[in-house]
Amino acid sequence: MVSEKDFKVSFPGTGFPDLKVLEGHSLSRSLDVQNSPILFGCRTGICATCICLVSGNISGADEDEREVLELFAPDQPTARLACQVQVDADLEIKAWHED
Ligand code: FES
Repeated sequence: MVSEKDFKVSFPGTGFPDLKVLEGHSLSRSLDVQNSPILFGCRTGICATCICLVSGNISGADEDEREVLELFAPDQPTARLACQVQVDADLEIKAWHED
């Protein structure tokens, strides 16, 4: 029997409720404008609209994602593209916008 684990995804400091996301599921498929402060554009890792700061012990970004992050958020070590994150830990997510 295969058991699936779910993880908590939360948005501290916002009014958005916590979500439960099944292990290995795409974060972007679990988030929409009603349930998170994260905005999406391309959902393919190119536009950088979905950059967010992630706290949690998740697997690292692949090379393509790192290239986009180095361009758009070079000084943010916890930055990720939400559309590229597979949920494999409890996560705290904050929207990020370059000032
Ligand atoms: S939505 Fe475009 S990079 Fe994530």
